[in-house]
Amino acid sequence: MVVTICIGSSCHIKGSREIVRILEQQIALHKLENKVELNGSFCMGQCVKGVCVKIGEDIFSLSPENTNNFFEKEVLGRLKE
Ligand code: FES
Repeated sequence: MVVTICIGSSCHIKGSREIVRILEQQIALHKLENKVELNGSFCMGQCVKGVCVKIGEDIFSLSPENTNNFFEKEVLGRLKE
């Protein structure tokens, strides 16, 4: 699974770097290094909503506060499917 995080300037200001750090931590914690790949991307054109994170065609708006939730629901949840 590839999780793409926007590192465009607007998302950067909203904490994309922190979100990458949280996701890396979660991946290490669950030993998913071989299953989940983090990718950076430039502006996805959805800056207003928050930090843009994409899994496949699904776009999510994250903040550092809801990143753990996102990981549990969308990353772990999808891996279990
Ligand atoms: S800077 Fe991230 S979507 Fe625009």
